[in-house]
Amino acid sequence: KMLARSAARVLAAPQTRLFSASAAHRTKVAVLGAGGGIGQPLSLLLKSDPLVTSLSLYDIRGAPGVAADVSHVDTGSEVQGYAADQLDQALEGVKVVVIPAGVPRKPGMTRDDLFNTNASIVRDLASAVGRVAPDAHILVISNPVNSTVPIVAATLEKAGVFDPRRVFGVTTLDVVRAARFLAGVVGATPAETAVTVVGGHSGPTIVPLLSQTKLGKDVKGEVYDKLVHRIQYGGDEVVKAKDGAGSATLSMAYAGAKFTNTLLQGLNGEKGVVAPTFVKSPLFVDQGIDFFSSNVELGPNGVEKIHPLGELSAEEEKLLAACLPELKKNIEKGKAFVA
Ligand code: NAI
Repeated sequence: KMLARSAARVLAAPQTRLFSASAAHRTKVAVLGAGGGIGQPLSLLLKSDPLVTSLSLYDIRGAPGVAADVSHVDTGSEVQGYAADQLDQALEGVKVVVIPAGVPRKPGMTRDDLFNTNASIVRDLASAVGRVAPDAHILVISNPVNSTVPIVAATLEKAGVFDPRRVFGVTTLDVVRAARFLAGVVGATPAETAVTVVGGHSGPTIVPLLSQTKLGKDVKGEVYDKLVHRIQYGGDEVVKAKDGAGSATLSMAYAGAKFTNTLLQGLNGEKGVVAPTFVKSPLFVDQGIDFFSSNVELGPNGVEKIHPLGELSAEEEKLLAACLPELKKNIEKGKAFVA
């Protein structure tokens, strides 16, 4: 009898750690840029998310093919693909929009080098969301996130439909990397080494708060410096290894699906759903910085509560001091583009 009970428990457990599935609500999610390096595996992972009812895949090329392929996976959600001229149809009735559209880095490039191409892509997509699905939550993956999130916000503001509770920069890959790299350093599993990463999403603006973790707080000296550098510049490892073929796509798809599922849990009314994400934030407004990533509690309307940073070590104070001026520049550049 006990065996039967524990077997039942195992079967009732979620398939993977990636998704939580306890809530009954289900939701229509769109991926804009679904034909790309991130978009394809992200669409596949979202197809496996039990909280997604319906998946709407859009790209200027290739989305109908990706949709036909992904739609055969035997999970409950419906999948529809949309061609270049069908953006409005793709956004019809959508509750969550994930945006990985835009060019990725090549070796030697910073994320800011992508600005000229990606700024207008993101602006045009945000403008369509504002028109067709003004109540949707927008998750921005396209780089430079520090600038593209202010671009989305300013575009929606212009259209009179901006709600700061519904626009998110996806910084989850930094959080995923921090947990994985710290686990490697201290010989633990990533489940034991969750790290809050704050600031922005590029080099010096990425600030991991290792001092607030049980296993990371005693990492010091050269090991600490190397670990922080690896968390800040982990993306460069992938860009270099891919040697001109792009940047992180698979780990980013994982991170994007993970954050989407976390948001869906909050939207479905689960309690205590908290994750770092780059949002309109009051934390550093006194220094002229109105977007910032920190732990955010997610609820039925999106952003419920923005957590303060908590106690920082002397090293983290230094990292934060290096982050703020760079972040400010990136945010202003995004705003200026829309103005
Ligand atoms: P990719 O070039 O493989 O795919 C981009 C896709 O966007 C292409 O399929 C393209 O047709 C599509 N696209 C371009 N303009 C579009 C438009 N106006 N509407 C809809 N789709 C459009 O690039 P990849 O590797 O998928 O990267 C996408 C973006 O994600 C890049 O900006 C990259 O820097 C960023 N990224 C962000 C990360 C993060 O942590 N937030 C991590 C890794 C990449």
